[in-house]
This record gives sequence, structure tokens and C-alpha cells, in this order.
Amino acid sequence: MSWQDNYKSKLCSHEEAAKLVKSGDRLFTPLGLGQPSTPMMDAIADRKDELEDIDYISSLVFHPYKIFNPEYRKTFRLITGFYSILTMNTNAEGSSVFVPVQSSNVGVVAEDRQKRFPRRQGIITQVTPPDEHGFVSLGLDLFYTPDIIHQADYIIGEVNPNMPWTFGDTAYHISRFDKFVETNEPLLALPLMGPTDVHKKIAENVVSLLKNRDCLQVGIGAVPGEISKLLAESGLKDLGLHTEMAPMGTRELVENGVVTCRFKQTHRNKIVMAFTIGDQDLYDFLGNNPMVEFYSASYCNYIPRLAQEKNLVAINGCIEVDLVGSIASESIGDAMFSGTGGQLDFVIGAFWSEGGRAINILPSTAKGGTVSRIVPYLTQGARVTVPRHYAHYVVTEYGIADLLSLDERERALALIKIAHPKFRDELLAAAKKRLKF
Ligand code: COA
Repeated sequence: MSWQDNYKSKLCSHEEAAKLVKSGDRLFTPLGLGQPSTPMMDAIADRKDELEDIDYISSLVFHPYKIFNPEYRKTFRLITGFYSILTMNTNAEGSSVFVPVQSSNVGVVAEDRQKRFPRRQGIITQVTPPDEHGFVSLGLDLFYTPDIIHQADYIIGEVNPNMPWTFGDTAYHISRFDKFVETNEPLLALPLMGPTDVHKKIAENVVSLLKNRDCLQVGIGAVPGEISKLLAESGLKDLGLHTEMAPMGTRELVENGVVTCRFKQTHRNKIVMAFTIGDQDLYDFLGNNPMVEFYSASYCNYIPRLAQEKNLVAINGCIEVDLVGSIASESIGDAMFSGTGGQLDFVIGAFWSEGGRAINILPSTAKGGTVSRIVPYLTQGARVTVPRHYAHYVVTEYGIADLLSLDERERALALIKIAHPKFRDELLAAAKKRLKF
């Protein structure tokens, strides 16, 4: 059978594809832009009365699937490793469970889970239309999809002409798929919030730590777009990008000649990443671009590979930092906000990279300036994302604390200097009490 006939034989409606799911399955959807359309997932949710005991695993969800509503809990158990604004209420209500996992380990954790608690497994992912050889591309999200495809019993591809072809490890032959459905949904674009003065100042402080030929990883959050803007005008040269997620402003950095990747130790001349969430301009730049390679996070964030880079600089947001330098980035107390993601992968990678640096960024306050984010103790229940011995730089709008070789008392003093001035006295008193000086 030609690949064209094979493709046609697998093409079906959302409702037909939804019938592949059986009771007792473990069903995965990818992170971010790889997620299927709402009609596809809603067709599965609509089978709630005929199915039972499904483990549904999702991460960083941006579609308002009805499967997250309470009436679907009896059939679909919600499991995640990274919450989003749309799903964190399921944590607050206790209707989902969280798997502690960092990006590089997702494949390993999924394999272990399958070994210990075997289930029939499936994944539904968005893909490009097939090329002339019958290959589709996973496009702009590879995060854990290749690892799950590798171990899945069935794969559903949702073909979307708006998903651009990308290079790297993204191509799969249509013979690997069990069903195809089609959608013409525009790719989800996140509106860029206008940066505040605080974000701008943090970005300035970060850029002051960078130098020519640094290889950057830039995480999720409000400041990265601003960092790109400053970098574009910084006069810095020959930066590399090896990052989990593409920062906004990547196009400008490449087109202005700031990012060349010329001096990277791995994937020389190439930008490497696992996924993106941004705007259409970013997607247009990353798609069909031979300079950009997408890999799964298990490859992209593999710490020994990161350690081979020289001057790897990891730039990531944080929620709270305590006075000895423990960093919480994924929860506010016990309330999960996101997930561990790749922060610790890149922080450790940067630690072992020759000339590498980890830069952990946060505004000095939250809740309209009423609470300090540099705190004597992490809020009770906070999940530690970076242990204190890996915290290198902490940056707020008030400056830079280089914690690397400082003892705990010196750390507290360095962190108090970059706290908001109105909290410094009480932080000093708390430091003296906690650290007995
Ligand atoms: N107490 C109460 N509220 C707090 C708080 C605190 N200590 N810290 C943050 N918040 C609130 C903020 O006020 C803000 O709420 P608002 O949007 O209503 O103002 C919200 O939490 C988000 O904080 P903000 O600093 O604006 O987040 P951000 O968008 O810059 O993202 C992280 C920062 C840490 C949340 C984000 O980087 C993350 O989820 N990291 C996880 C680790 C990771 O995966 N990193 C690599 C990813 S590629």
C-alpha cells in the first residue's frame, strides 16, 4: 500500500479516534503546543459513561478540555508533572496528583511507572501534514512526546497545517500512527504581558552577568522576553542557545547576529530546544529553520551533555528564596503553581560547565509589594526546586547575590542586600535568629 493510501485508511473523525481509548488505559497528551485540539479531547471525555479507570497524564495544559471538570473524575484520574493556569485548581481541589519529575527524567519515570504498574498506553499529539515521503513532524513540541511514542501501544496524530515542520528529531513516518484526525486550529499564542519596571531592572542585572560566547538557557516567565530585548542591543557577540524552551525575541537575536552558536561544544551553529510557547512570529522563525533543532527534553536537558558546553548560563524564574539560598519555583507553600521543569537540569548542567553560571531570578516582592519573596524560611509546604548548594546567582531588581562559596550567614547577608528595602530589617533580625549570630 502506498503511504498515501495508508494515510487515508487511518484518517477518521475525532469520535472514531476516541474509540481507540479503552478502560484501564494510561493516556498521555503532550505539553504545550503538541496538545490535541479541544474537540479531540472532548470526544474522549464524552465516553465517560462507557469507560472506566483511565489514568490521564497531561502537562502545561493550555486548552480548556472539559475532561478537567469535576463530573469526569470518576472515569479519568488526572496526573501531571507541570500545572498551568488552567489546571492548578485541580491541585487545590485535590482532584489531580503530581508526579515529582524534572524534564530530563520524564522518559525514565514513565518507563518505571509502566514496569511497576503496567497499563495499555496511548498518546495523542499534533503533527504537521505528511511530506512527500510520508513523514510528519512533531513541529514545535517534542518535550516528552518521543519518549512516550517509544513506549506507546497506540498513537493518534492530529494533523494541523498550522504546525510548522521543524528540524532535529521530529520526523515520524505515518506508518507509526494508528489513527489520524485533522484540525485547522491556529496555534495557541500567549499574549506577551508588558514588562514592568521591576522586570526591566531584573533583566538589566541578568544581562550585566553575561559575556561573549555564553551559551544560554532561558526558562519560562515574565522576564525572559525582556532579556532578549536587552541582549539584542547589548553588543554581545556569538552567544549560543541550548535551551529547554525558546525565549521570545529569538528571531531578533539571530537576525542581529547576537546569537550565532559558533562556539558551542555540542550542536555547533545550531540552536537546540525541546519546546516553545510564544507568539506567531516566534513560531514562524522556529519552523522550517535549519538553524533550529528540536529534541525531547530527555536529550536536550541531559545533564552530562549540558556539562560539555562551555559557559552555559541557566536563567530561570523563582517563586521564593530562603535566607540560606533554597529555591522554590513550582509552588506557593503547598499550592502547586507549575512544576520542577528543567530548572534543576540546567542549574546542575551550568554548575559543571566550564565557566558556567546559574542565574535564578525573581521580583523582590509579590502580592502588590506586600510580601517579600526573599524569606527567612520557605513558606510551609513549598516544594524545593533547587537545593541551596546549587543556587549560584540570585537576582532581583535590587541587585545580584553570588552565593556560590558563601557560608549560610554570608548568604543571608547577600540575599538581604537584594531584598526590597522595606523588608531588610525584619529579614536581618530573622537571619540572626535562624543562623545564631
Ligand atoms: N507569595 C505569593 N504569591 C506569589 C509568590 C509568593 N511568594 N511568588 C509569586 N507569587 C505570585 C505572583 O504574584 C504572580 O501572581 P500574579 O500573576 O497574580 O501577579 C504569580 O505568583 C507568578 O509569579 P511571577 O513571578 O510573575 O511568575 P513568572 O511568570 O515570572 O514565572 C515561575 C516564574 C517561577 C513561576 C516560573 O518560572 C516557573 O513556573 N518555573 C518552574 C521551574 C521551571 O520549569 N523552569 C524552567 C522552565 S523552561
